[in-house]
Amino acid sequence: MSLEPIVLVHGGAGDIPRERVEGKLEGVRLAATIGYRKLQETGNVLDAVEEAVRSMELDPYFNAGYGSVLTSDGNVEMEASIMNGATLRAGCVSLVNDIYHPISLARKVMKTPHNFLAGDGAMRLAEQEGIQKLEPGQLVTDYARIALEEWREGQLRGEMEYARTEIGAKNKYKDKGEFGTVGAVAIDIEGNIAVATSTGGITGKLPGRVGDTPLVGAGTYADNRVGGVSTTGHGETIMRYSLAHEILKRIEFLGQSAQEATKNSCRSMTERLIGTAGAITIDFEGRVGISFTSERMAWAYLKGNTMHYGIEQDQHLTQRV
Ligand code: GLY
Repeated sequence: MSLEPIVLVHGGAGDIPRERVEGKLEGVRLAATIGYRKLQETGNVLDAVEEAVRSMELDPYFNAGYGSVLTSDGNVEMEASIMNGATLRAGCVSLVNDIYHPISLARKVMKTPHNFLAGDGAMRLAEQEGIQKLEPGQLVTDYARIALEEWREGQLRGEMEYARTEIGAKNKYKDKGEFGTVGAVAIDIEGNIAVATSTGGITGKLPGRVGDTPLVGAGTYADNRVGGVSTTGHGETIMRYSLAHEILKRIEFLGQSAQEATKNSCRSMTERLIGTAGAITIDFEGRVGISFTSERMAWAYLKGNTMHYGIEQDQHLTQRV
């Protein structure tokens, strides 16, 4: 089998304000370019997705690494996962702080006998692996601080936030804010697929809250036999729907295309559980799926010498590179 390599990324689904659109588009195009170059350099899809996500973890336009949103008590708690579609090995971390690149820590977990490390244990691995430890507060941006202040004001006004929204509370439901997460899916010429996803979670989350992003089957899934998916959106909803896995099951068992499966799964999830989400998919034959039920989601992919990108519903722009 010989396929065209692709690196596909997203920069988070949500109610993204207009003034953040250009910055996000620049960031996803850069991440796709960096991931693609890495794939050309090492030929390893895991390197490609890790590098693409690392680029967005350093970019304050995204809710991951530097720029992560804050917990209800004003701290950063990050999560990430990475998966190898050839072996189904995965590395996942949660409740990590004061490092730039949770995705690289997640990849280090793949070297242990485990799939998932959280909190102190994950931070101990970071130290053992020589990952740079930052000063407390170094990842906190003004944008994240303001978002938390707005969230607190909303709480005082009695607005419901996502984390406490229950099924059936549609009339009280407030689809507000950027539920950014960043993610990347890559395929090489032999059909090897890898996926990486990283996030700061949701503004105002309770300390200790775990979302969808580090969960295999919810935020991330990769299987060379079917495809790879990275999701973004409201974690409490996505994890109950196992969104990444649901998309791949539609491809595998219903014969849907990557685009149909991604769109149908996101829509069915939002219809049933209310919360919004987006997902990016590459199937085993290198077909791409991109869909979101939120207002916007920045995405980009590089294939051959063409960059494809967009952020609005039904927008698909291209640019020769
Ligand atoms: N998908 C990001 C979160 O809810 O944590």
